[in-house]
Parts: sequence; C-alpha cells; structure tokens
Amino acid sequence: MSFLLLLTFLNLVFGSIVSKRSFDAKFAYTSVLSTTWSTFWHNEYQAFDLNDPSCNPNFSYAAVWDVAVAGKAIVDSGDVQKTTQVINSLYKFQNSEGWFTSSPGGSDIYTDDNSQVLWVFLDAYKLTQKEAYLNTAVNLMHLIQTQWSQIGGITWQKDATYVASISTTEAALSAVKVYEYNNDKTLLTFANSCLTWLDEHLTDPSDGFYYDGINKDTWQVNKGKLTYTVGTAISTYSYLYKFTGDATYLKKATKMASATLSSSTFLNNNGAWNNDLCYVHLLFCGFADLITIGGKTSYTSALVDQANFIYLFDKLDSGDYSLYTKAQSLYEQYVKITGDSKSVNYNYNPDNFCNGDVNKPRKSVLDDGSAAQIFYSVVRVS
Ligand SMILES: *[C@@H]1O[C@H](CO)[C@@H](O)[C@H](O)[C@H]1NC(C)=O
Repeated sequence: MSFLLLLTFLNLVFGSIVSKRSFDAKFAYTSVLSTTWSTFWHNEYQAFDLNDPSCNPNFSYAAVWDVAVAGKAIVDSGDVQKTTQVINSLYKFQNSEGWFTSSPGGSDIYTDDNSQVLWVFLDAYKLTQKEAYLNTAVNLMHLIQTQWSQIGGITWQKDATYVASISTTEAALSAVKVYEYNNDKTLLTFANSCLTWLDEHLTDPSDGFYYDGINKDTWQVNKGKLTYTVGTAISTYSYLYKFTGDATYLKKATKMASATLSSSTFLNNNGAWNNDLCYVHLLFCGFADLITIGGKTSYTSALVDQANFIYLFDKLDSGDYSLYTKAQSLYEQYVKITGDSKSVNYNYNPDNFCNGDVNKPRKSVLDDGSAAQIFYSVVRVS
C-alpha cells in the first residue's frame, strides 16, 4: 500500500472513529490501575504475580521490568500506601551491590530495567520525601554509568557485549531525571554523550530512528527498531532543553516526534502506532514530556487519539489490556466497529491465551501497567 493510501486509512479510523468518541483519560487511568492491582497484586507475597491468576493459580514473582512499569503507574497516582508496598516489593530484587536483578535473588542484571526501577524510586521520593529512595536512585545511576562500553553506549546486560539503544537512551533519561534532584552537571554531559553516540552509531538515516543495538566485540548491528528508544530520547531531549535552554534539543525532540506520526516505521496502515504496549508506553511518555516540559502543545491531539485508540480497541471485558492484533475477541470487535479488515493482521498464537483458548486472552501485569502509563501520559497533558 502506498503511503498516501495509508494516510487515507489514517483518516478513516482516526478521523471518523477515534477522535469523535469522547475519551476520559483520568477514568481510563484510574480504572486500569485498580484492575492491575486487583488482578496481579498478591497480598501474601506482597508482590506482583507474573502469572494471569485465571490461567495459573500459582504465584511467581513478576520480572523486575514488569514491576517497574506497573509500579511507576501506581506511584504516579499519589497513593502513598501502595507506593510503599511497591517500593518494598522492588527492594526484594536488589542485590548486595545495589543492582536490581530480573528476579528476587537472581543473577541476571539488565541496565534498561534498572533505569525503569530508578524512575520509580525518583517518583516515590517526590511523593514521600523519603531520602532513602533518592539515595537508591542516585546509587543506581552511578552503577548504570559504569556500564559505558569500550565503544561507547551503555551495555544492555551488565558487563556483557551487546550495547543496546534502549539501555543507552534510558541511561540518558535517568541522568537528566536525577539531575533534577541533585543538580550534578556531569549528568547532563553524560546524557548528551549517550544521545550523541546513538546519532553517530545506531541511527537509521532513512527515518531518524535507532537500531536495536550493536555487539561491541564484532560491531554487528541488530537493525530492529522499537518505539521505546525513540520515546525515551524525546523525553531526554525535552529535559536537556529545560535544563540548558538550548533549543537544538527541542528541535531534535520535535523532529523525532513528528517522524513517529508520519513515517511508516511505527505506524500501522490504520494510523495507530504499531508496537506492543510494553514498547509504546514510553513513546506516550516522550510526547507528554515534549508537551509539558517542551511546551509543544501541538502534539496533544495526536497523543490523545493514539491513547483513545488503545482505550477503544485494546481493553478486555475484564478491564485488563491486551492488543487488538493479539486477542481474537479484540480483533473481531475492531473489525466490526471500523469495518477495516485490511490494514492489520490477526495471527493466532497460543501463547497469547490461557491454555491456547481464544476465549481466554492471557493477561499480564506488564500490559496493564503499560496501559496505565499510557493513560497517565494523557492525564498529564489534559
Ligand atoms: C501449580 O502448582 C502445583 C503444585 O506445585 C502443580 O501441581 C500445578 O501443576 C501448578 N499449576 C500450574 C498451572 O502450573
């Protein structure tokens, strides 16, 4: 399909359906937040469950990434009691060096997960003024900075060979967020170095987006692309603009933001961003930062429409979130409402359901937490 036809579809779904349906982001946010808690928080373990309890009644600890994503959405609600519970559950993942491992007591350490953990601690500090939370975040920042590789960029897994764009952009965003609290100017230099390195080594000139990463020993590049690297860079550039006043940063942020709305890389033919919720929520956060910190209010309506699309088409009957291209019931509903059976495909994958049963989409705390962050980003700009 040509890009002009694509834009016609964009009008069809976004123009006639999405933007004409009123969307109460505050309601969407608080609803999915309470569903997330009631579905996945386990009182006995005081932790989020990895499993969908309706698929598997046994508890397993959700991965630290999942906890950080859902946890940040909880902290942002301002609920101090639940914030304390989330923070205490995160501390179960911390090892003696200060890193947060993928599972409690485990040994896998991903630097991008640790950035997302850092953001939860900063937000929790902002809410509660507990110094321990700020100290945890600042120490984590220093640990993440030790992972600057010999070829530049931040290694994805601690001391390993793959240097990912996501670990590098998230380290940069962590740096500017920590700067806001401790005014350590070296953190601004560090954030700038991360983004400059990405410009030089991992940027696709055809759309301006980042490749997934590079092996520091073989220099082999993985050319996959995901929205979260771009969203995180937009956020970082917005903060750098705020702290330095340098409009070059704002220009870079708006160029990237506009590209996500015009390049086919991240758009489905119906005009909706095409990544899973866990990768796209940071693009929503990037837009919210660009609007609230960078003052670029012209992006508000695009942000609201993208979030409304998720609210209309990704919400399961239970109030949990999946993806309309993954859950058959959601796909059928999408086709029925829009009349569009061409611009996206649905492919059955048994892993997306409990025991492969299409009537039981598998829920996850990561999907729910990502949806909550998406709606919260709209609350921020409303
Ligand atoms: C839950 O745990 C029990 C006891 O260990 C086990 O027999 C059962 O297979 C588990 N259920 C699932 C769905 O994994």
